[in-house]
Amino acid sequence: MKIQAIDTVAADWSGDYLGIGFFEDSTTIEAYLTQLNQPLRDVLQDLVSETEFQGKAGEQPWTRIAGKGSIRKVMLIGLGSQETFTLDSLRQAAATFAKAAQKQKAASAGLQLPLWNDDAAASTQATAEGIELALHQDIRFKSDPEAQKSGEYPHDINLLGLANQAAAIETAQQICTGVLLTRELVAAPANVVTPSALAETAAQIAADHGLTLEVLEREECEAQGMGAFLGVSLASDLPPKFIHLTYKPSGTPRRKLAIVGKGVTFDSGGLNLKVGGSGIETMKMDMAGSGATLGAAKAIGQLKPDVEVHFIVAAAENMISGHALRPGDILTASNGKTIEINNTDAEGRLTLADALVFAEKQGVDAIVDLATLTGACIVALGHDIAGMWTPEDSLAEELTQASDQAGEKFWRMPLEEKYFEGLKSPIADMKNTGPRPGGSITAALFLKQYIENTPWAHLDVAGPVWTEKENGYLNVGATGFAVRTLVNWVMG
Ligand code: BES
Ligand code: MN
Ligand code: ZN
Repeated sequence: MKIQAIDTVAADWSGDYLGIGFFEDSTTIEAYLTQLNQPLRDVLQDLVSETEFQGKAGEQPWTRIAGKGSIRKVMLIGLGSQETFTLDSLRQAAATFAKAAQKQKAASAGLQLPLWNDDAAASTQATAEGIELALHQDIRFKSDPEAQKSGEYPHDINLLGLANQAAAIETAQQICTGVLLTRELVAAPANVVTPSALAETAAQIAADHGLTLEVLEREECEAQGMGAFLGVSLASDLPPKFIHLTYKPSGTPRRKLAIVGKGVTFDSGGLNLKVGGSGIETMKMDMAGSGATLGAAKAIGQLKPDVEVHFIVAAAENMISGHALRPGDILTASNGKTIEINNTDAEGRLTLADALVFAEKQGVDAIVDLATLTGACIVALGHDIAGMWTPEDSLAEELTQASDQAGEKFWRMPLEEKYFEGLKSPIADMKNTGPRPGGSITAALFLKQYIENTPWAHLDVAGPVWTEKENGYLNVGATGFAVRTLVNWVMG
């Protein structure tokens, strides 16, 4: 599929499937239609009156065009009111149209949307992102080649009324290769995406885009004293991998950043086995933080900002066996802090503890971690919103701006120090699990013990990384959540 911006407008375009976006404003819809030539004018006026099209978000009536005209189908796409119009409205509208063109097997499609904020580059980029993300179909595990068929359409999508936007489209496509890599890593089962597979993916990114890679094997992690991380890996037959990918700009970096992702390739819960509807069957997605980290690395390797970025993943599998970590065991993390394990299912924070200590040793200006850390965060914020914890107002502000631009939702939550009471251990420096109330907050406070003085933010992405419902440019399954926010944060 090829996306191209051309200066031809909808009224002059010819192809299989035309899409035109409208705000919720009947006078401009009417004014636009009256200046069109036949047969488009009659067809669209009929469509508007028959479907009572008002331009509300989600409205998408379409019709065939009879006769010899070269446009065979046309869709009106509601954009909602102009006051609530954002870059994400463009992504959503583009997704609606692209999916219809795909389903109806249109070879060539033309889409005309208004500009957001008079910004042609940002509008083009968002539109192209909506298309790329909406059309992605994951057929890797289907044996039936028929499953591939509808994915061939549309062959071409023209973004109408836009000239000289090739660079914005290329940017969108580079970012989307990262998002789609993340989706495929998260969607793939735990017998495919193992800690070694994550390390191999990192090696591929390094080779393709000129990053450097260091993978610490178990013995090297032992030498660095990463007892918390290694404790999680004890019962797995799969070797743990500590992955450190580095992107360095050619000149002096403007800033040095670290992105740390939870990479638990399967979370059985360990001896505190996930039983009774606690979702063990979905726990292949417990590496979604690392999936987003590697997806961001792939995008940033292509975008080449003047910022140094360290991508860090402590990858392991949380299993059960005679070697398993036991409740009551005490582990020592690489900063010397000791942890009494009162629940082996609070494993993500153990892997992150050593990863955060390692990240801080890189001498970066800020660290962001991403993790499918707690079910409690899903209870608090649902599936559309991720939690954000940071002591640093300026970092919260940067991430909020980056996420607004990406159309990904985060909500800042309190780092209530008093709740650390719940992590106190009579025998070690802390326990790994607090009481059920405020469970996402104590998880964040646990992580905070492994940061000394670098600005840090923790993103609990347990809800938004997966969707059971198709939703705009998100298809059922892995969403690729947070990659675009991370990219905006690094670039910004
Ligand atoms: N990976 C889970 C969190 C999770 C749950 C992610 C559901 C996505 C969907 C994490 O390792 C975990 O098991 N957390 C426990 C923490 C508890 C033992 C303090 C939880 O949320 O129940
Ligand atoms: Mn767990
Ligand atoms: Zn987990």
